[in-house]
Amino acid sequence: MRQGAVFARIPVMRRLVLVAIMRVVSLRDRLRLRWLRWLHPGLEVHRSASSALARARFSLGAGARLLIGPGVVTERNPGRLSFELGEGAQVEIGEGTWLRTTLGPVNVVAFAGGRIQVGPACFLNGCHVSAKRSVTLGRRAWIGPGSRVFDADQHDFDDARPERSAPVTIGDCVWVAGDVTVLRGVTIGEHSVVGTRSVVTRDVPPHTLAYGVPAEPRGEVGDRSRSR
Ligand SMILES: CC(C)(COP(=O)(O)OP(=O)(O)OC[C@H]1O[C@@H](n2cnc3c(N)ncnc32)[C@H](O)[C@@H]1OP(=O)(O)O)[C@@H](O)C(=O)NCCC(=O)NCCS
Repeated sequence: MRQGAVFARIPVMRRLVLVAIMRVVSLRDRLRLRWLRWLHPGLEVHRSASSALARARFSLGAGARLLIGPGVVTERNPGRLSFELGEGAQVEIGEGTWLRTTLGPVNVVAFAGGRIQVGPACFLNGCHVSAKRSVTLGRRAWIGPGSRVFDADQHDFDDARPERSAPVTIGDCVWVAGDVTVLRGVTIGEHSVVGTRSVVTRDVPPHTLAYGVPAEPRGEVGDRSRSR
C-alpha cells in the first residue's frame, strides 16, 4: 500500500501529531547538518537534499571535499550511511541520487587523493564504493545490495608485486545486481546489466548482459533509459 494511502487512514488528530513530530525531527536534522558542515569545512549538502543525511557518518581528511547534490535522498537509519574521505579526496553525489540503506549499509570510501563521482540519478542500494584513484558512475547507474566496487586491490600481492589500482567507470543506465564485485580497471559500458554474484575483472561492452566469475558477456541489453 502506498505511504500516502496509509497516512490517509490515520485519524485526523493523530495525523496532526505525527506531522508535528516529523517537523521537529526534520528541524533537528537540519540543525545537525549545519553543525556537521561547520565541523567539516569540505562538506556541502544542497538545501534540497534529504535532512536524513544528518544521521550519516562523515569523516573528512584535510582538504577533502564532499558535495551532496540537489534532491539526494536517504533513509533516517543512523550510521547506515557513511562517507570516509582521506586527505584531498573528492566525492560528488549527483542530483537525485538515492542512497538506500534499508537492505544494507551504504559506504562511500575515497582514500587520500581518490575521486568518486556518482550520478546524477544513481541508485546505491546497500553497497560499498571505494576509490584510491577514481570511480565514476554515470547517469542512472544502479548498484545492488551487497555489491562492492574497488578500484584498487587494497593490499600488495607480495613483496615483489605492490598493490595495483586503476580507475573504474560504470556507464549510464547500468544495472549492477546484488552481491557483485567490480575490480580495478574495469569499464562497464552504458545500458549493460551485470548478474548477481558476478566478479567483474574485465571491461563489459555497452548494451551487454554479463555474469559469472569472472563475468563474461552472455547476451544483449536494449535501452534502459526508462527501465525501473
Ligand atoms: C586476487 C587479485 C589481486 C588477482 O589479481 P591478479 O592475479 O593480478 O589478476 P589480474 O587482474 O592480472 O587478472 C588475471 C586473470 O585472472 C582473472 N581474475 C583475476 N581475479 C579474479 C577473480 N577474483 N575471480 C575470477 N577471475 C579473476 C582475470 O579475469 C584475468 O583473466 P584473463 O587473463 O583471462 O583476462 C584480484 O582478483 C583481487 O581479488 N583483488 C582484490 C580486490 C578486493 O577485493 N579488495 C578488497 C580489499 S581486501
